[in-house]
Amino acid sequence: MAAASTLLLALLFCFHLSLASPAAPFAGELLGEAREPGFATWLRGVRRRIHQRPELAFQEHCTSELVRADLDAIGVPYAWPVARTGVVATIVGGGSGRPVVALRADMDALPVQELVDWGHKSQESGKMHACGHDAHTTMLLGAAKLLQDRKGELKGTVKLVFQPAEEGHGGAYYVLQEGALDDVSAIFGLHVNPTLPVSVVSSRPGPFAATAARFLATVNGKGAHAAKPHESIDPVVAASTAILSLQQIVAREIDPLQGAVVSITFVKGGKVHNAISESVTFRGTLRSMKNEGLSYLMKRIKEIVQEQSAVHRCTASVDFMEGKKRPYPAVINDEGMYAHAKAVAESLLGEENVKVAPQLVCAEDFG
Ligand code: NI
Repeated sequence: MAAASTLLLALLFCFHLSLASPAAPFAGELLGEAREPGFATWLRGVRRRIHQRPELAFQEHCTSELVRADLDAIGVPYAWPVARTGVVATIVGGGSGRPVVALRADMDALPVQELVDWGHKSQESGKMHACGHDAHTTMLLGAAKLLQDRKGELKGTVKLVFQPAEEGHGGAYYVLQEGALDDVSAIFGLHVNPTLPVSVVSSRPGPFAATAARFLATVNGKGAHAAKPHESIDPVVAASTAILSLQQIVAREIDPLQGAVVSITFVKGGKVHNAISESVTFRGTLRSMKNEGLSYLMKRIKEIVQEQSAVHRCTASVDFMEGKKRPYPAVINDEGMYAHAKAVAESLLGEENVKVAPQLVCAEDFG
């Protein structure tokens, strides 16, 4: 997905929380170290190595190994495996070790062919870090180094979550299921955004990214020769009517200020021009800026597909595939944490470089 921020920002949230105000002296020191030639060269090398070996969801074995090797070199302890390939590192500062604050980066790539030709292009055919998770993983390693070097000044604990399978497979859910974040009181995530200039960050309080799910509808009728439509029960007509009716959910039933999407993206039925098909399948996505909005969309999609099919004498089923690919909850930022993070970011980057992001209908399993 495409939110906006940098790990540096997330790192500073953490320090500010732990060390209290003012953030600026630490912010300047951290930014200065991050920009030192040796540090930047190390991170650039890490990013390019990850970029050359993109791995899909839950297959991030080499990436995970690279992360662990660098954490070993930095001297940061970690738990592994978490959610199959994930790594959760822990930096314990002074005092009671509280609060526990987490920083999260996703590690997986996309099934996309990289077409540009450069020195560190993907070496894996059909796989690419097209969403920038290679950058996220690298930045979290950078945070690990900066934090570890200042461990003595840290009043609290930082967990660094290298998460698998953000792209559609809900890796974050499995990290939670394994209890890795049970003691965490705040967590910061980020996503690179190529539409923002370097050193500009953006976020927003409250609803930020949508909750999203997918569905597969199957409409069953009766096949016949196209010249004898009266002998068929035509699922193409039924599915067409259902698809048109689905457009009315957002247009007529949802508060225009709430924000929701129902998109049909795939339709399949029939093979030849002169035979009416026995069945039609179609797929789509549903999204809402509110978690409760998703359950309403699910209910109405099922009702409309089944009832419109019945009007045309067909039967229908709708599968939301929740067992295979879990719906993503909405990303809703805590207003206090947002205000805090914004203040820290402004102290570091200047007010002019901290923007309020628009709401996104993209989904992110950070939610
Ligand atoms: Ni992404």
